[in-house]
Amino acid sequence: MGNTIADIETIDDAGARARAVKILRAGGLVAIPTETVYGLAADATNPAAVAAIYAAKGRPAHNPLISHVASPEMAARYVTVSPAARTLMERFWPGPLTLVLPRREDVPIAAAVTAGLDTLAVRCPALEPTRQLIEALDRPLAAPSANPSGKLSPTTAKDVQAGLGDRIPLILDGGPARVGIESTIVGVEDGALRLLRPGSVVADDLTAATGLAVLDRDDSRITAPGQLVSHYAPNAHVRLNATTKHDGEILIGFGTVKGDFSLSPKGDLEEAARMLFTYLRQADEAGVGTIAVAPIPEAGIGIAINDRLRRAAAPRDSEA
Ligand code: TXA
Ligand code: MG
Repeated sequence: MGNTIADIETIDDAGARARAVKILRAGGLVAIPTETVYGLAADATNPAAVAAIYAAKGRPAHNPLISHVASPEMAARYVTVSPAARTLMERFWPGPLTLVLPRREDVPIAAAVTAGLDTLAVRCPALEPTRQLIEALDRPLAAPSANPSGKLSPTTAKDVQAGLGDRIPLILDGGPARVGIESTIVGVEDGALRLLRPGSVVADDLTAATGLAVLDRDDSRITAPGQLVSHYAPNAHVRLNATTKHDGEILIGFGTVKGDFSLSPKGDLEEAARMLFTYLRQADEAGVGTIAVAPIPEAGIGIAINDRLRRAAAPRDSEA
């Protein structure tokens, strides 16, 4: 890896977006803001560019990538859109919902994007300048979270700089991510939806929009190969459901559990999701052996927060 540091430019600047398009067309990598977390983007139709994502992140090759599109129409060029999928796009796009749909044959998506699966994960991000960038490129952007594999997802341009700044030329800055945790991922199956990763769009929202039942992801099948158990690992150990601090720990509070700092003093789960990775990072930077975290209610977006916390607390495996 070189010693160069990525430029950070605001995505609101048309000149910065034009520079990004130029880099992406040439097969390079650009970090982009989205409402969930920052992504490490490459042209999804360029096999060498997609290979560079895996190399920069140190990501295992069997973990497929999400393709970011500017509109439902752009998605329909690459995937088969069933009526239920169409309904979900109309209700939740642009926004933090990724749909896993049958990939159309003979479309120029690099094989490494799907890691050999016959489905493609598509998502239309909420930030308008990010969609403008995809529109200008006129190709889907493959983009995993812009962190070294297994590390905490980045919610600011500075987080990206700290993790990957020496491996990419440009980071587009869209300010702190509004949602703060990765998109909900849903598989659309015959007559049902399968929740592959919980996020801020919750199962009840999906059922309300479609009338379909939402099934849990089936752990016996490799439906989301990237969902390795230990995935969001800070350097410190993580102890969950903590109401008091033990010696040598830092305590991240929520609601009535005050802690050294709090995900949300008023107990607001959306605020907690937005702050989660920021505070895990801060706690990690304090250099303690263990980060203790207050209990988070298992409801609404709290389900997604607890999913990330359980992964952060899980024993580390070599692939994470
Ligand atoms: O919010 C997000 O989704 C962010 C931003 C950048 O858009 N992206 C993100 O990407 O979280 P990543 O690579 O960290 O997570 C993508 C997940 C992986 O767990 C992968 O297994 C799953 O999506 N995935 C991708 N393609 C899939 C497919 N065809 N079938 C099942 N799961 C898939
Ligand atoms: Mg990730």
